[in-house]
Amino acid sequence: MRVIITNDYESLSKWAAHFVAEKILDFNPTPDHKFVLGCPTGSSPLGLYQELVRLNKKGILSFKNVVTFNMDEYVGIPESHPESYHSFMWNNFFNHIDIDPKNVHILNGNAPDLIAECAHYEEMIAEAGGIDLFMGGIGPDGHIAFNEPGSSMTSKTRIKTLTTNTIQANCRFFDNDVNKVPKQALTVGVGTVMAAREVLILCNGHLKSRAMKHAIEGGVNHMWTVSALQLHEHGNIVCDEDACADINVSTYKYFKDKQRIEGLLDTYINMFSD
Ligand code: GLP
Repeated sequence: MRVIITNDYESLSKWAAHFVAEKILDFNPTPDHKFVLGCPTGSSPLGLYQELVRLNKKGILSFKNVVTFNMDEYVGIPESHPESYHSFMWNNFFNHIDIDPKNVHILNGNAPDLIAECAHYEEMIAEAGGIDLFMGGIGPDGHIAFNEPGSSMTSKTRIKTLTTNTIQANCRFFDNDVNKVPKQALTVGVGTVMAAREVLILCNGHLKSRAMKHAIEGGVNHMWTVSALQLHEHGNIVCDEDACADINVSTYKYFKDKQRIEGLLDTYINMFSD
């Protein structure tokens, strides 16, 4: 697993955005050979999306031949709800780039048959040729997408009931009222993320430091679903200093040395700068 430790959220966002941009540019997508990108929501990817929008507006990066699949969506709130993941993605990303709306896929948490909706989502991912790069955030309890502790490490897209922890963490988006937070969501599975050809997880802030420790130092464990990344051939975590509060000094030093020797940090942060 590659772990990149950046100074702060701003550098983390730039690093992640430039990494993603380079992957898309290298792939050189065409109408017959589209790049398939997995997208997260949450506060962690906001800076990444802002930087991707900047690159798009500058003409450096186009999304015309990019297909997206979002990680998850709440069950039972209207798509137009300001906190739905549909609203989040259009407001923060899709409305500001040159993506073709028909290439955007987000689970429908109001589908009449939620089980069929999830099965169809997996089919569409397969039809698109699988996901080239899955970007993701991480919950304080180490969940990826809405794969709560105890989720099967081979799970596919399905309905999940949210933990009290997640409901409390997300109630900041719902007037700080736990009763307003949906109790269920549709989410890609750990197995869906793991099937992507590459994965990039963003982990910032002190609140995520325990999850960070379990992601890279603990064993592979379904109680910290992000730890599945240890089994991925091309797994990347980009974090900030605050998220490293709980990892061993030797782990921290190794990854810092590695990124210095391999030039992994500055290469991406300074790429595409004005
Ligand atoms: C939710 C989302 C996750 C996200 C997590 C962390 O649970 N389903 O995909 O990673 O929140 O969100 P944030 O980035 O706001 O901390």
